[in-house]
Amino acid sequence: MAFRDLREYLAAASDLGELKVIEGADWNLEIGCITELGAEKFGPILLFDSIKGYPRGFRVVSNFLASPRRFALSMGLPPEMPRLEMLRAWKDKTRALKPVAPREVSSGPIMENILTGNDADPEKFPAPKWHQNDGGRYIGTADMVITKDPDSDWVNVGTYRACIQSGRRLSLWILEDRDGRHIAAKYWARGKACPALVVLGCEPATWMASPVKVEPGVSELDYAGALRGEPVEVIKSELTGLPIPAHAEIVVEGEIPPLDQDSAAEGPFGEWPGYYAHTGDECVVRIKRIMYRNDPILLGNPPLLPITQRYGVPIFVVRVWEHLENTGIPGIRGVWSHCNNLLVAVSLRQQFAGHATQALIAAAGLQYGPGMDNYFVAVDEDIDPSDLNQVLWAMCTRVDPLHQVQILNSWTSGLDPRVSPERRRRGELTMGRMLIDACKPFTWRDQYPRSNRFDDAFREATWKKWQEFLSGNDR
Ligand SMILES: Cc1cc2nc3c(=O)[nH]c(=O)nc-3n(C[C@H](O)[C@H](O)[C@H](O)COP(=O)(O)O)c2cc1C
Repeated sequence: MAFRDLREYLAAASDLGELKVIEGADWNLEIGCITELGAEKFGPILLFDSIKGYPRGFRVVSNFLASPRRFALSMGLPPEMPRLEMLRAWKDKTRALKPVAPREVSSGPIMENILTGNDADPEKFPAPKWHQNDGGRYIGTADMVITKDPDSDWVNVGTYRACIQSGRRLSLWILEDRDGRHIAAKYWARGKACPALVVLGCEPATWMASPVKVEPGVSELDYAGALRGEPVEVIKSELTGLPIPAHAEIVVEGEIPPLDQDSAAEGPFGEWPGYYAHTGDECVVRIKRIMYRNDPILLGNPPLLPITQRYGVPIFVVRVWEHLENTGIPGIRGVWSHCNNLLVAVSLRQQFAGHATQALIAAAGLQYGPGMDNYFVAVDEDIDPSDLNQVLWAMCTRVDPLHQVQILNSWTSGLDPRVSPERRRRGELTMGRMLIDACKPFTWRDQYPRSNRFDDAFREATWKKWQEFLSGNDR
């Protein structure tokens, strides 16, 4: 059964021993640094209360999904399921989803407190300054920005970083290719402001629909209903007509005027590859009102170095897995990505000479998200692609770098720190891609020296018999 709201999810995570409450931290850098240190140790969810300068009850949560167990909890999967099976379950679930439209209700807890006029001040909430060189307090790091197409009933949702700006405004960085941007641009072309809601805390399954790419015209709220297995409850706003998630923690309502009427200097903000890249004049939400629940919880999800696990399992890489299956490449055992999707590992059962290369070329040809994923590794079916140590072992013992590595020139992302300022100015956003065939050579794979690792059946039986001496070890 789906969680009704963020606090229900946090209570369930706490029951699993996956949550710690921290009292007295400062929103100014301390919460961000504790979050970073905790994530690097694969620690629990952090719920900050009694934040310096804020009343008790005005809380911030971070690292909310950052373990496979938390991902399983949020998706209703068994928490002890092996990681790769969890990703497979997510792939199968998302492939079979049928949209579930939101259910309209007349009221809900989000209406417990309403701030309007001068009182609608986003600094009322303890938005952290997450990293040392950030250009402001980023209140929206796991937000859902809801807009509606002016020409149809299509309600779009996307996650775009939101920073508190002066004059009761939030800046949003919405890239040109986002559906949310196309919708706003339609209003702007008519000289109008685009009505918008910025949702700042909801349960994880609902949130996960927001950064996922769904087809234009399909609402991510319907997708969220499908992920939850029940509709998202919404209240129709009498101000903008937009659907306000009834069980959200904090919702900012306002409008985004055309860029030539209002904008703000946005950034820098520590980004997911682990560097600062973007700053610029970006659009703003002029706030009309802020709704929030009693004892609100601001959902925080700051970008951290990609050595941490932000979502427990790399949900975005299922697009590569599906792509390989859809292109008819046989024998795919599983796909995983490491370093926040920058290195993709494909495990397969080789069936013909060149099979691994075919899979690598297909995987490297898909633009599935980050844009700066440059390393693609194919491994045999005895290697678990979700275990980076196993992938490294295969790379170090099955690859002849002279013959099993190929390098292509390809596109990359504007966030790629390796593009020189000069190339950036020329718009030359390209980077090499490395295809590494870490499989045993197909033609003599049967003569390849045997591994001295126990086989799975023997390991499993031994584990069952002796696990009391091994518990705490990650198999
Ligand atoms: C944590 C997180 C933060 C994101 N921040 C941004 C952002 O600041 N700007 C942006 O354009 N996309 C950002 N994205 C990606 C978009 O949310 C994603 O592309 C989404 O599909 C856009 O939705 P839309 O095409 O319906 O507008 C972020 C994704 C995640 C997971």
